[in-house]
Amino acid sequence: MILVTGASGTMGKAVLKEVAKTGEQHRAMYRSATEAAKAPAGASTVIADFSKKDTLPPALEGVTSVYLVCSPIPQLIELEWNMIDACVAAGVKHIVLNSAMGAREYMKSFPSWHRRVEDKLKSTRISFTILRPNSFHQNILTYFAPSIRSQGAFYGSMGSAAVSFLDVRDIAAVAAKALAGGEHSGKTHELNGPEALTYGELATKISKHSGRPVQYVDIPADAQRKAMLEQDMPEWQADALLDLQAYYTGGKGGKVDGLLEELLGRPPITMDQFLAEFSSEFRRQAEAATA
Ligand SMILES: NC(=O)c1ccc[n+]([C@@H]2O[C@H](COP(=O)([O-])OP(=O)(O)OC[C@H]3O[C@@H](n4cnc5c(N)ncnc54)[C@H](OP(=O)(O)O)[C@@H]3O)[C@@H](O)[C@H]2O)c1
Repeated sequence: MILVTGASGTMGKAVLKEVAKTGEQHRAMYRSATEAAKAPAGASTVIADFSKKDTLPPALEGVTSVYLVCSPIPQLIELEWNMIDACVAAGVKHIVLNSAMGAREYMKSFPSWHRRVEDKLKSTRISFTILRPNSFHQNILTYFAPSIRSQGAFYGSMGSAAVSFLDVRDIAAVAAKALAGGEHSGKTHELNGPEALTYGELATKISKHSGRPVQYVDIPADAQRKAMLEQDMPEWQADALLDLQAYYTGGKGGKVDGLLEELLGRPPITMDQFLAEFSSEFRRQAEAATA
């Protein structure tokens, strides 16, 4: 039995779909009944919370493999540690941990939090697979599409740094394979997408697929921080995002290797495929309706 945690989130939802395709018995973990009610038809669900330790043993009953993911919040360390402890107590055999690119060497921001969890997992006797993905294609919809819709532009302090974005659905497909353990046991997979793009190149691609001019506007990091705080982003999050951005501008985010394709056994989803699929997300509502 496989337990997929974070089943309401971007990664967990995609992993749940991939695990369902394998035909393995599985259970989806949610924090609330409202979210559990949105589970795919026929999926077995459980309600539990990493912060409520007594909810974890029932969620883990009969479970052999766990896909472990949590929101990128500072409490992630303690929350995922709680789940790892519960997995040890429940006799779980294998954990696939959703970590992040940079956890190997960048001791700041999200990667440093993920590293603390990786280290804890490795200190147990549970077999593990660690996935360290680069930035998701789907971030473009979350972070850039709103200002693209309203202003035809997105903003950052990335300069000419390149990012090899990859698709959540491809990471999920790798996670589903890794949940079987086997050749993936004891492995840490650093996952990058099939091409490295600067934000300027990304803007050109979004323009092409959305059919409207879209510009990337480079602004100083101080101005970006101010804008994030003005949009009510908590200070810790603005700082973590800027620290992560510094990792990318340091030239660390543009690696392209064949590992993702090798693990998938097929070519990964490209940025062009992703943008073609979600092209309407970049148009104003009225434009999208008439397109
Ligand atoms: N975005 C990127 O480009 C990127 C790249 C590399 C790595 N990552 C990492 O990928 C991870 C997942 O990202 P995501 O976009 O899938 O996040 P997400 O959409 O925020 O999903 C996080 C999931 O964790 C659940 N969760 C939060 N607190 C919990 C708790 N106390 N107990 C149980 N479940 C809890 C959430 O449940 P609720 O819905 O109830 O809140 C949600 O299902 C993050 O750790 C992030 O650092 C992201």
